Amino acid sequence: MPHDIRFSEQALELQETARQIAEKYVRPVAAKYDRAQEYNREAAQAVAEAGLFKVFIPEEYGGYGAGSLALCLVTEELAKADSGFGVAYAVNALGSTPIVVGGTEEQKKRWLPAVASGKKFCAFCLSEKNAGSDAGGLAVTAERDGNDYVIRGEKKWTTNGGVADLYTVFCVTDDSSKSRRISAIVVEKGTEGFSIAKVEDKMGIRCVPVVETHYDSVRVPASNLIGEREGMGFKHAMMTLDRARPCVAAQAVGAAQGALDLAVVYSNRRRQFGQPISSFQMVQKMLADMAMQTEASRWLVYASAAAINEGVKNVTKIAAMGKCFATDVAMHVATDAVQIFGGYGFMEDYPIAKFFRDAKILQIYEGTNQIQRMVVARNLIKEAAALAHLEAYIPQEEQQTYADQKVETL
Ligand code: CAA
Repeated sequence: MPHDIRFSEQALELQETARQIAEKYVRPVAAKYDRAQEYNREAAQAVAEAGLFKVFIPEEYGGYGAGSLALCLVTEELAKADSGFGVAYAVNALGSTPIVVGGTEEQKKRWLPAVASGKKFCAFCLSEKNAGSDAGGLAVTAERDGNDYVIRGEKKWTTNGGVADLYTVFCVTDDSSKSRRISAIVVEKGTEGFSIAKVEDKMGIRCVPVVETHYDSVRVPASNLIGEREGMGFKHAMMTLDRARPCVAAQAVGAAQGALDLAVVYSNRRRQFGQPISSFQMVQKMLADMAMQTEASRWLVYASAAAINEGVKNVTKIAAMGKCFATDVAMHVATDAVQIFGGYGFMEDYPIAKFFRDAKILQIYEGTNQIQRMVVARNLIKEAAALAHLEAYIPQEEQQTYADQKVETL
């Protein structure tokens, strides 16, 4: 846990800027881009001009180095207007973080300034058809050939694919190694043999492309290998996900708040039995639960982001808890928001159906919530050593009850 959740003045200013952009460039056209399954380039341009891509890039490489909490505040605001646009923004942080956490000085200087300025967008290519939750089970290979790597295989569900200029591709470089099997390599758009093979037709987050990327003997310079040596890819992927999951969770907080806000407004306007439905206790109970859950997830997410800012050594558990809790809340809140809209909520004429469709993927990507729970439980079990003093209070098999215990300290 962090010791403090501190909002810098800069973070609050960035949050306000994101709110203004969301209300001007994102919310009014969210339905249009959703229907067309098109990327909102105008909003992305506004985000770039406002400097919001600088938030997650360190100062030395053209960014603001504003930290994880600022990144969460910005993502939350964008997602409140359109969860799809929230991830379209956040995936640039996901795709560039392997370079930030594992890249050499030369690589950071080569790639990060263009990401900070919004000139280059990023994508993170980990998942494959047969390697989703089991991220270690990749099949895409990168073979060393002189001063190059030659990449072969297919990646699945690449968010931002086609729009992105830089693709962080996780490849097998040493199949004989158990723990150093994988390396991350940057592939730039336009490299021969690299193609966007299938653009997925999705249930939600339709304004951001999710694609298959294919690698047909893609040759890249060996200097595109992230870091100084092969085999660091899995570690870099996990470290990246630890830092990116609070951002998905922030997207979920924004989505939940967005759905709740619409439900409140609608419940005041909609009249049944001669009065606004917001006057009925059952609707009030739903609204109150939605608000409590959203607020609880918000603070867990902020705590996970603050822990990253503070440099807490192991953020894996709190990042997974925030991702899992906030995204389950977003699904629940969006479901109840549709319920409050009743029959109208089921129709695409109203904005709430989109919140419901957009929420589902939050429980799946950047690690399913089953994987998050597993990660949390694994960490709890590891930390059990710190609870050794409680052993004395748990009866041994030969003892009958807790009352039989003779605990010396009592
Ligand atoms: N930080 C640093 N290192 C870590 C780590 C972490 N958080 N977690 C694990 N590692 C290290 C371990 O220490 C271990 O290292 P050694 O071999 O040196 O001992 C190594 O990585 C292997 O660890 P595990 O044995 O724990 O690995 P595992 O195979 O059991 O899998 C997992 C762990 C948590 C299930 C992992 O596979 C995982 O997170 N799966 C989910 C994948 C995922 O989130 N995919 C998201 C795709 S991106 C996406 O969805 C983006 C989008 O579209 C928007």
